[in-house]
Amino acid sequence: MRVGIIGAMDEEIALYLEGMQETKAVTKAGITYYEGTLEGRDVVLCKSGVGKVNASVCTQILIDHFQVEKVIFTGVAGAVHPALNIGDIVVSRDCLQHDIDVTALGFQPGQIPFTDRWIWEADPELIQLAVRAGEQVDEGVSIVTGRILSGDQFVADREKVQRFYEQFGAHCTEMEGAAVGQVCAMNGIPFVVVRSMSDKADGSAHVNFVEFTKLASQRSYAIVVNMLRHLAAGAIVYSTQGCIECDMVKKWLTEKGIAFEVRDVMASRAYQEEVERFGFLGVPVTVVGEKAVKGFDPQELEKLFA
Ligand code: ADE
Repeated sequence: MRVGIIGAMDEEIALYLEGMQETKAVTKAGITYYEGTLEGRDVVLCKSGVGKVNASVCTQILIDHFQVEKVIFTGVAGAVHPALNIGDIVVSRDCLQHDIDVTALGFQPGQIPFTDRWIWEADPELIQLAVRAGEQVDEGVSIVTGRILSGDQFVADREKVQRFYEQFGAHCTEMEGAAVGQVCAMNGIPFVVVRSMSDKADGSAHVNFVEFTKLASQRSYAIVVNMLRHLAAGAIVYSTQGCIECDMVKKWLTEKGIAFEVRDVMASRAYQEEVERFGFLGVPVTVVGEKAVKGFDPQELEKLFA
């Protein structure tokens, strides 16, 4: 499974580039895409550039040309919700554009005229994965799921922030997420946006943005890397060598044509911890997304893949 990872600025993708292996660069429509692996996952990384047009072009190319099956947008945002502080994380529950305004013709704020779809819901599994990954990354940082507002504006105005909160129930504001969400929805591709707050979109936003973008980008990166770690290729079978039940699970999956990745718990303490996270001690444990089955139990396995 290929995952597209997008950031808007150099700072937002720098750590990914450093962490990737077997990287191959391809440029299309002025945007460079880096194909390679990160945490053992097949990924395509790119810097879209700032704003909704860049983000849209970039997302469509990721889908059409690079055939990504999931998209993660990673980066920084201005906090809108009063409970959020600089450094906190917002995982998109949904995204919409705050700067599309055809209210003069009777449409709702943010509504794309002549359609009833303008709020783009992120994929529940990716949301859950991001929240879990975030909780493991840094203590003391608040991680919430909420509404992300996108527009072609750097917001540095308290009154606008207040309006975004009251009118749209927004958690944060940035310049790309809703475009990525819309293009993904139009193509049936699951997406999520993970943003760390670099500023509060108020009178100090420009100063805070410069000061905190690096730290906030580091946080977003740590979460996405953790997400990739837990993102199953199809299924993960935690096993040990010479374990008969493990072999039975693998045989069962192979016969069903289900792709799976084998993780030997004796080879890595991290793998053991992943098994323990599901409340199990022994193997085999078969995991799909956030669900797990212990042992070789065909009935339970059937349910897992139902
Ligand atoms: N990205 C980070 N901070 C932002 C802000 N205040 N407005 C728009 N995009 C942002």
